[in-house]
Amino acid sequence: MELRTERLLLRPFTPDDLTALHSWHSDPEVVRYLFWDVLDLDGARDLLERRLGRVTVPEADGESIHFAVRYGTEVIGDVHLELLSAEQRCAEIGYVFGGAQAGRGFAGEAARELLRFGFDDLALHRIVGKCAAEHRASQAVLRKIGMRQEAHFVEALWVKDAWVSEQEWAILEHEWRG
Ligand SMILES: CC(C)(COP(=O)(O)OP(=O)(O)OC[C@H]1O[C@@H](n2cnc3c(N)ncnc32)[C@H](O)[C@@H]1OP(=O)(O)O)[C@@H](O)C(=O)NCCC(=O)NCCS
Repeated sequence: MELRTERLLLRPFTPDDLTALHSWHSDPEVVRYLFWDVLDLDGARDLLERRLGRVTVPEADGESIHFAVRYGTEVIGDVHLELLSAEQRCAEIGYVFGGAQAGRGFAGEAARELLRFGFDDLALHRIVGKCAAEHRASQAVLRKIGMRQEAHFVEALWVKDAWVSEQEWAILEHEWRG
């Protein structure tokens, strides 16, 4: 399955994407707010292996679909949509982009398309986005795609030897259409 935006192609990962995936997952700035630390090539290969298996529409709780984000000839990011509850028609979006193209609106553009995919194609009712409370750039992305901050969980997660506060943002299908 492929999705398109004005500047981007969101397509399934292929084995050829290892170099791109490794390049951003080996950058300390990129992984700063992720659950894992920098990945070596073997770690990136394991991650890619998992991405290669997640290319179909999620149907059961906990299943996700991942897309490699291509801009021109370059793969610049990794975005996904995970079905949190089929019964509640609720999913979570996530995104990781390499630092070289930061601040050019690519995450927002890809995330907007994930909302369209979720609401139009998957008939979801609610889509959420979660990020560390200190992660201002991610909050800016969630805000500009129309999400509202719904929660701030204080020191809720133990990540990389420290307690991290987490924000949860969300948008409903009728808000998105409005
Ligand atoms: C967070 C991330 C997805 C943003 O990607 P991006 O392509 O630069 O995003 P965009 O250009 O669409 O938007 C970035 C927004 O953050 C804002 N921003 C960037 N740094 C900021 C900061 N330190 N404080 C406040 N806002 C900031 C930008 O101004 C922009 O908002 P605007 O369009 O309203 O001006 C990207 O940096 C990334 O992948 N980081 C590493 C992985 C990660 O942390 N993923 C998210 C996990 S929750």
